[in-house]
Amino acid sequence: MSSRDTQRAQRRENPEPSEGQRPVPRLVVLWIGVLLLWGVGYYAWNIGAPLTGGDSRTAVVQEPAGSGVNGEKLFTAHCAACHQPTGQGVAGTFPPLVGSRWLLNDPTLPIAIVNDGLSGPITVDGEEYQGNMPAFGDKLSAEELAAVLSYVRGAWDNDAAAIEPALVKEHRERYGHHDAWSVEALGDSFTLPE
Ligand code: HEC
Repeated sequence: MSSRDTQRAQRRENPEPSEGQRPVPRLVVLWIGVLLLWGVGYYAWNIGAPLTGGDSRTAVVQEPAGSGVNGEKLFTAHCAACHQPTGQGVAGTFPPLVGSRWLLNDPTLPIAIVNDGLSGPITVDGEEYQGNMPAFGDKLSAEELAAVLSYVRGAWDNDAAAIEPALVKEHRERYGHHDAWSVEALGDSFTLPE
């Protein structure tokens, strides 16, 4: 018998099975890597962003009808202590708002006075005042400031047009955080009433 014959049975067999060197296919590993990078990257990209859990909808704030800003209430809360509920002021100390040419002419003027404040001499209705009118720019929104000014321009015997919030916003954009005005400074930037 030749040696060839003795190996025939062996050659007929399949090779011994062995465990694969790469049980997970290369493509799957690559895909897991891509997903990991995407996930980590997504969080890294959103660092500092508000945690909305992926919900980027914005809530619509709906004001119930009639709950808007109320000029009369704002006047009572913020102005009446000095200018009096009657708008007549206190002679020699707080100037009147009734019939005041500073209030009733060009609307940009009272916006400047109430938003930024006013100090120093001012003549109202023939009488000189030497006081300090506080600034309301930080206390009242543009809507509130427009509402309270619209109220005083139309209350009592006053009969001037309402003031739009847009005009207040315009003033704020233009003058930023302005110091209290003096009548002199107002004259440089605004048309003063006769
Ligand atoms: C702490 C007292 C005080 C409060 C509060 C106050 N004012 Fe005045 N206001 C004054 C004084 C004082 C002057 C005069 C300033 C000056 O002498 O330069 C003045 C002046 C004015 C003027 C220009 C002069 C005039 O009589 O027309 C207007 C307009 C005005 N105030 C509106 C308002 C409005 C509107 C509010 C409320 C949002 C308000 N003031 C709150 C004290 C006050």
